[in-house]
Amino acid sequence: MKVLVTGGAGFIGSNFVHLTLATRPDVEVTVLDKLTYAGHLASLEGVLEQVAFVEGDVADADLVDRLVADADVVVHFAAESHNDNSLDDPSPFVRTNLLGTFALLEAVRRHDVRYHHISTDEVYGDLELDDPKKFTEDTPYNPSSPYSASKAGSDLLVRAWVRSFGVRATISNCSNNYGPRQHVEKFIPRQITNVIDGVRPKLYGAGLNVRDWIHVDDHNAAVWTIIDKGVTGETYLIGADGEVNNKDVVELILELMGQERDAYDHVTDRAGHDLRYAIEAGRLRTELGWTPRYGSFRDGLAATVDWYRENEAWWRPMKEATEAKYARTQQVVTR
Ligand code: NAD
Ligand code: DAU
Repeated sequence: MKVLVTGGAGFIGSNFVHLTLATRPDVEVTVLDKLTYAGHLASLEGVLEQVAFVEGDVADADLVDRLVADADVVVHFAAESHNDNSLDDPSPFVRTNLLGTFALLEAVRRHDVRYHHISTDEVYGDLELDDPKKFTEDTPYNPSSPYSASKAGSDLLVRAWVRSFGVRATISNCSNNYGPRQHVEKFIPRQITNVIDGVRPKLYGAGLNVRDWIHVDDHNAAVWTIIDKGVTGETYLIGADGEVNNKDVVELILELMGQERDAYDHVTDRAGHDLRYAIEAGRLRTELGWTPRYGSFRDGLAATVDWYRENEAWWRPMKEATEAKYARTQQVVTR
């Protein structure tokens, strides 16, 4: 099976490539990645010689057409992925997330290639803290940020191409991932690398916002389950019942790293900050038989702390520019 992985030098995509090469000897992988600030060839260290790597843009229709023509399956991870950046400058989000998906859909339509679209639970908006309901495949779309709106738009393009043109596509909407090789702009790696640098972790607002954490390998195993057994035209939610509020995550990171649990700062809150995400993944579990392997968030987080401690050469080059960017928009409110 020839698989084209877009965004394979990013966080989730690179972990997908590592998992695929370790578990699927029958799969040939081609990676298409623009190597933006978020893409790193270092994330493919150890497997780069086993993949065909193409540096290029998913919105480049001619390039995409050539690569899709030679694939059996396309797994589309490439995106602008960070909410804070989308508030600063939405334009690359609209371009990559909408026009990139459009170019891929036109190519898979022309060549009748199976397509899996990677998306996010953020398309559903947010939940109240005490809402007993979680997101399901039937929850109406209600995105809050330019990032989540661009992902929602890309999902709707996929649904339209399925219905109007019979494209063989599935969509998955997953909750917050954690694990190795995540950019230090994101919440968990930012705090781990701050602590390594002797800097206090930074919590947006009061820190009561809840995210539904899943290990990146559990997400990627679910993606393979959907490629293997999913029904084309369908959407599957991916989540592992991992709801934790941000304050508890920061305190756990500090504890795991041998610091006082209250040694963090509250900083300016994110505009339009979604309060809570929570996934009901019953369909994926019962219809396709997927179950997460990482049972304990504490153990998974401890392993992630170890990874960042052992792989400073991977994250150090991106740390200074990331913090300089945050320093322009965020002030410490209380210590
Ligand atoms: P990331 O920012 O770490 O990686 C994105 C990758 O896409 C990078 O390698 C980048 O170079 C590449 N890229 C960006 N623009 C491109 C373009 N125009 N052409 C080709 N390549 C381009 O992102 P991530 O966290 O790994 O997210 C991957 C996907 O998973 C995204 O679609 C995101 O919406 C989705 N997702 C992420 C999470 C999460 O918690 N991180 C959760 C659910 C869904
Ligand atoms: O839910 C899935 C989404 O999860 C994905 O679609 C996105 O690509 C991914 O980036 C992530 O979005 P979030 O906005 O939830 O992730 P982020 O890591 O930016 O922030 C997680 C929470 O932590 C959020 O409530 C904001 C907060 N936060 C973030 C940073 C960077 C802080 O309190 N301090 C920080 O320094």
